Amino acid sequence: MAKSEDSVTSTIITKIEAIRNANPDNLMARHFDADYFRNLDDQNQKRLLAVIATGIENSDSQMGAYAMQNDDYELFAPMLDPMIRDYHGISEDKPIKQAHDWQPDGSTSDLTTIDAGLEEGSMRVRVARNVSGFPLAGAMSRSQRVELENLLINAFKTLINEPGFGGKYLSLTPDNPYEIGAVEYNQRVSDHQMFKDMSVDRYLSVAGISSDWPWGRGMYISEDEGFLVWVGEEDQLRIMAMQRGGDLAGLFERLEIGIHRLEAMLPPFAHSPKYGYLTSCPTNLGAGMRASLHVPLPKLTNGGSDMERVKRAAREFSLAVRGAGGEHSDAGGDGLVDISPSARLGVTEAQIMQSLFNGTAALWALEKQA
Ligand code: ARG
Repeated sequence: MAKSEDSVTSTIITKIEAIRNANPDNLMARHFDADYFRNLDDQNQKRLLAVIATGIENSDSQMGAYAMQNDDYELFAPMLDPMIRDYHGISEDKPIKQAHDWQPDGSTSDLTTIDAGLEEGSMRVRVARNVSGFPLAGAMSRSQRVELENLLINAFKTLINEPGFGGKYLSLTPDNPYEIGAVEYNQRVSDHQMFKDMSVDRYLSVAGISSDWPWGRGMYISEDEGFLVWVGEEDQLRIMAMQRGGDLAGLFERLEIGIHRLEAMLPPFAHSPKYGYLTSCPTNLGAGMRASLHVPLPKLTNGGSDMERVKRAAREFSLAVRGAGGEHSDAGGDGLVDISPSARLGVTEAQIMQSLFNGTAALWALEKQA
């Protein structure tokens, strides 16, 4: 039996139903079930509202939700699972589950075998990780953000003394011993190493993910600048490897080694056999991995002025395309775009690598014919 409905609840339901009509691609609105929401107790209604607030306030959201606590995924599975299936392309008749496997299957993954011109391409692969024992980024207090940063700084001190890592930690936290100034920060952002000021991202800010900016935020960067760890962005850790050239397998191996070193020094990463690595955004669940390549596609993007055609073409190969300037950016005049496999959940790390390779080959062939 549904409890008697207060006006706040009915206002929210009406608002979400209006979003569903106006923005059919907003997955939160698409899968919102008013009866499910009505039947939650007050405390859980509040918790769920904190998760979906970003998609209510930003009706143009694609996903429209960020988890606040690791157990939100289990607790709100009746609402979140349909959104997760829809985004990751997992049909009703299949279980949601995540296996991990970094071992390439032996087929070639060297991008220069597609075209020697890809030699100069910039490759990047990152994973999202959150440590158990803390809330996810949207629900952390300022002191928890700083506490977590200090925990990580200890691990980075060890890495800095190891051959193959070295490098340094750069903090944005006021008065942190590793604090850097605005000039260096801006330089690192324009070098595509450091993350942008999150507080200007309206999707993140509604979710509380950019709260307390810039406390608890920073980055570890290796001596050769090829292995980096972002601290306190959308997920507590974003661990990444960046490299030029075509050797995708080498890039993945570098990342895997770095993750294992960190894992040995930190509390366990939040993980479930169903959802894989638990992340703020349901789009990043599973392998938690985004592997991407910057490639010039001047013809497919009509000189960088039209992203629609290339996005449509890429979707057939399960790739997402965005401008090389990052999320919500367009291609530059040279048609330089960032392509990456969109599925993260239900696919292994090795499969993600292979689908980036296959997708790049396919888009490159289209570009040549265009
Ligand atoms: N919250 C935004 C949306 O729902 C972005 C989702 C994917 N991007 C991300 N950085 N998690 O449209």
